[in-house]
Order: sequence, then C-alpha cells, then structure tokens
Amino acid sequence: MGGAITVALLAVGLAACSPPPPAPPECTEPVCPLAEVARVRGIRVGAAIESYHVTPGSPYGDAVRRHFTSVTTENALKLSVLRPTPTTWNWGPADSIVDFADANDLTMRGHTLAWVNESSNQNGLPQWMRDLTDPATFRATMLSTVSEVLGRYRGRVDNWDVVNEPFEYPFGLLAPSVFDRMGPDYIAELFIAAHAADPDAKLWLNEIFAELFPAKADALVALVASLRSRGVPIHGVGLQTHLTLTPAPPNPGSISGLVTRLRNLGVDVAITELDVPVGPLRNEQAQVDIYRQVAAECVAAGCSEITVWGVGDGDTWLDTPGARAGNPLLPLFFSLPSTPLLLDADLRPKAAYAAVVEALRNTPSPP
Ligand code: G3I
Repeated sequence: MGGAITVALLAVGLAACSPPPPAPPECTEPVCPLAEVARVRGIRVGAAIESYHVTPGSPYGDAVRRHFTSVTTENALKLSVLRPTPTTWNWGPADSIVDFADANDLTMRGHTLAWVNESSNQNGLPQWMRDLTDPATFRATMLSTVSEVLGRYRGRVDNWDVVNEPFEYPFGLLAPSVFDRMGPDYIAELFIAAHAADPDAKLWLNEIFAELFPAKADALVALVASLRSRGVPIHGVGLQTHLTLTPAPPNPGSISGLVTRLRNLGVDVAITELDVPVGPLRNEQAQVDIYRQVAAECVAAGCSEITVWGVGDGDTWLDTPGARAGNPLLPLFFSLPSTPLLLDADLRPKAAYAAVVEALRNTPSPP
C-alpha cells in the first residue's frame, strides 16, 4: 500500500515536472498559419531575406509578416556587402532589414561575420580585407570591424552568426582560411569580441552538412564542448540543413541526435538555412516528407528555430547562375526551377508548409 502510494506520488511529481504539451491552436483556415502555430509552440520560424524584400508594398514583406516570426539577412550583413572599402560603410540594406524586424516584432538573426570555408565568394569579406596579409593588421581590422557592426546594432539583432562553416565539408577538419592569420584561436577571439560589443546578443556558430556527415557532427560537438569548457561566449549552434541531395533525406535520427548532443552542452540549436529542392525526378512528395522529418526531429529534440533560406520559390539562391557556377555538381541533383521553399513563386503555402505546420502541432517536445 505504502509502495503504491509512493509510486503514485512519484508519478504525480514527475507529471508536475514535465510541462504538458501546448494545445494546438484552433484555426479556421484549411492550413493553420505557420507563425501562429510556432508562437504557441515557443519556437521561431524564419526566412532569409534581402532588403528589396522589405520595401514598402512588397508582397515579400507581407508574406514574411504573415508566415514567419524571425528574419535572417541573406547577404546584407556579410562584410563584403557592408564594408566594400576601408572607408565606405554600406549600412542601408542591413538597416532596412533591422528596421523591418523591429517594426513587425520579428526576431532578428544577423548573418554572418566570418565565413570560413568559402573561397569562391571570398569568405564573405571584401577584397581589401583579404589583401591584408600582415597578420597583426588583419587581426586588428577583423576585430574592430566586428565591434563596429555589433555595436551599431546593439540590442536590435537578437542572434548573430559570428562564425560560419569553420569546417571543411565531410571530414570534420577545420578549414584553412584567411582567418588563420589571426592565429589558431581565432574562433574564440571572434566570439569574445562580439560579446564585448553586444553582451545581450546570442552568439552562434553556424555549420553546413553536419547532419549528413558523422565525422563532421563529431568534430562540431567537440569544438563546441571545448569552447564552452573554456568559457567562450558561444550560445547557439545553427545547422544550416541545405538538403541539396534531394530526394536522399538525412538518416532518420541524425538531426534529432545532433540537436540533442549539442543541447547537452548547454547551447541552443536552430535549423538556420533549410531548403529542399525537388530532385531530378521532381518528386514533390519527397520534398514534403523531408520537410516534415526535419521539422519533427527539430521539435522532438528541442531546437529553438527553423529558418528557411528564402521567402518563396521565385527568389531562391539555388536558381541563380552564381550558385550553379560555384558548384558544377548541382545540376546532377536537381533541375530548374529548384522550388525548394515553403511558399511557391506566388507566395502561396505549399504542401511542404502544411507538413511543417502539422509537425509543429503534433510532435511532443523533449521531456
Ligand atoms: O549584388 C550583386 C549584383 O550587384 C551583381 O550584379 C550580381 C552578379 O552576379 O551579383 C550580386 O551579388 C550576388 C549576391 O548573392 C546577391 O544576389 C553574389 O554574386 C552571389 O555570390 C551571392 O550569393 C550568395 C552566397 O551566399 C554568397 O555570398 C547567396 O545569395 C546566398 O544565398 C548564399 O548564402 C549562403 C550562406 O550565406 C551560408 N550558407 C550557405 C548559403 C548558400 O550558399
């Protein structure tokens, strides 16, 4: 009897510890609005945008307000755009996106200060910065630029992708880059400089393909563990999740497993650049299934954001000549138009949108 009471009390206690899943919102529309469902779940849903998306009267701006709760600068905060010469600052595009986020109560993600594994687009840096071959000059310029940028937007950019893609693609080796001129601890130094400039901003390391390559996932976990153990101010890890190899989905559990391992280190985890082009056979059901899988695994493991890399299918980086020129293998994996996003070219929700909504409504959060 006493044992039964103890078990019963224990059960009540445990039930009290784990919050009940939030009630799915009632909606009258055929598909619940993604932003509304996400707010109820306490998760952000975002889109990468350019400044021309948010000019007054733009249908893109309306779509962002309606469907998303967060925005990321697709290119406007890359230093190549922001500081084209030592004496020229091009704040306009980024300012208009930050103003748009403020005006519409959207969470703001700044992307990105140091793009490490990137040569064709020059590490997101202007040529004049890459030309600073003297290590001390490069280091001082990089750190002062980080301070200037985070200082300008202090309190207005909630999340910053401080370091982007530090690893080479599959093997989990740190990629050689111009940032090596700062010395072997440049990742920590960039986070420390960013934290000093805006102590309230959440600082993220953002990586590509870690959900696909186990060696890269292991290296990412080890790097974050090391930074955390040294007290480096890193608060989140972004998994870009460009699923270009559609219709080959990530192995089941690879996203939730990696999210869990990273969260166990005390950092937030977000899906930061999701896109799923229809494959060469234009199998839209495969696209729907992959979106559902990613959203469900993200929610199940407790990630805090799902951001897609563009607003609608009419304006995706994957269809630009630049993307194809940068990767000659891309045409093997999908045909144009790649239609990789949640909204179609007319900014109407697709079947993939409904699948993400359902995953957000129905997937239990982690205990
Ligand atoms: O703005 C110029 C325009 O003036 C010029 O006429 C035109 C000629 O090609 O180029 C325009 O700039 C392009 C820019 O996108 C804006 O459209 C660049 O050439 C082009 O390289 C740049 O591509 C961006 C790429 O990063 C490189 O910075 C893509 O839009 C952007 O989606 C992509 O995003 C990256 C993330 O930052 C990191 N993760 C991977 C992701 C996809 O590669």
